[in-house]
Amino acid sequence: MASLITRAVRSAAFAGHTAAAGFSYTKLGFRARQIGDAPVDVDMSSKTIVVTGATSGLGEAAARALAALGARVIVVGRNPKKVETTVAALGAEARGEIADLSLMSETRALANRLLEDEATIDVLINNAGVLLGERSTTDEGLETSVATNVVSHFLLTNLLIPRLVDSAPARIINVSSGGMYTQPLDVDKMLDSPGPWRGAVAYARAKRAQVVLTEMWADELRDQDVVVHAMHPGWAATPGVSSGIPAFEKITGALLRTPEQGADTFVWLAAAPEAAESSGRFWHDRQSRPTHQALMGTEERPGARDRLWEVLADLTGTGA
Ligand SMILES: NC(=O)c1ccc[n+]([C@@H]2O[C@H](COP(=O)([O-])OP(=O)(O)OC[C@H]3O[C@@H](n4cnc5c(N)ncnc54)[C@H](OP(=O)(O)O)[C@@H]3O)[C@@H](O)[C@H]2O)c1
Repeated sequence: MASLITRAVRSAAFAGHTAAAGFSYTKLGFRARQIGDAPVDVDMSSKTIVVTGATSGLGEAAARALAALGARVIVVGRNPKKVETTVAALGAEARGEIADLSLMSETRALANRLLEDEATIDVLINNAGVLLGERSTTDEGLETSVATNVVSHFLLTNLLIPRLVDSAPARIINVSSGGMYTQPLDVDKMLDSPGPWRGAVAYARAKRAQVVLTEMWADELRDQDVVVHAMHPGWAATPGVSSGIPAFEKITGALLRTPEQGADTFVWLAAAPEAAESSGRFWHDRQSRPTHQALMGTEERPGARDRLWEVLADLTGTGA
């Protein structure tokens, strides 16, 4: 009975979340906040910025915007042709790196190459992500969406932190999702969900973990002039939305943000002086937001974040 009541409350809360989000997350919310009237205008010409998943959607829009501000962007993608095309469009300063971030062996090799080639990394944007319709497992035995959305972010970030600290002031930005509001932190369910697998739930659990890791890295790096932010972009029309949630795209189509509008807050977090003044927060449309919403039942259990860190450290052989 208790679980029935909990489920009913969660469904009502999810419906409420979706209705409230309906306005805020669309291009109407973006327009209402008049963010487009204040484009980010910061000289980034001395900065090196690593953007994962920069070959499509929000990551590509952010890479373009940051390159236009003068930054030297390192485009990380899994598809060599797409990486080549994206780099060519960004201009001579940009360069590409190829890695399948669902695989920890490739993530580790990417980090090693970056450490070898880049004396300075000013900003790391962990943007690569997937919402899958069907469960799949990588050759390394992890469920693919959790591997891509959180395990590789944990590994890449921990391996690059020493270089970010050497490059300080530096920034780490984790691209999460408003979907994370629907799930508590539960590392065991995140890695091996009991019952039928649902892509949106697996995705939301991983996105919740990203927000918690943001707070943990912020604590770790507080005295080292490296700030860490998580953000959610709202709902934007990207190839990821078309392939991951086509029915949702059909319903919301005309209201979806452009990729540039979706990427605006992570460009702002990477560049704006105000974004260097705090760390460990969750942002949407350039405003700090709560990490939990009323009635969602997502309160964190004692010890849950320590367990998240231990399990990810164990899985990746790092960060313990
Ligand atoms: N669009 C939205 O409304 C929305 C809402 C909330 C959160 N987000 C988040 O925003 C981020 C960007 O999403 P998007 O909508 O722009 O999706 P997208 O168009 O599919 O872009 C995702 C990017 O990640 C890359 N990627 C996926 N799996 C990878 C892997 N195994 N290894 C390396 N790169 C990989 C993709 O590479 P390919 O180009 O090769 O596919 C692509 O560059 C994601 O973290 C997503 O969860 C998006």
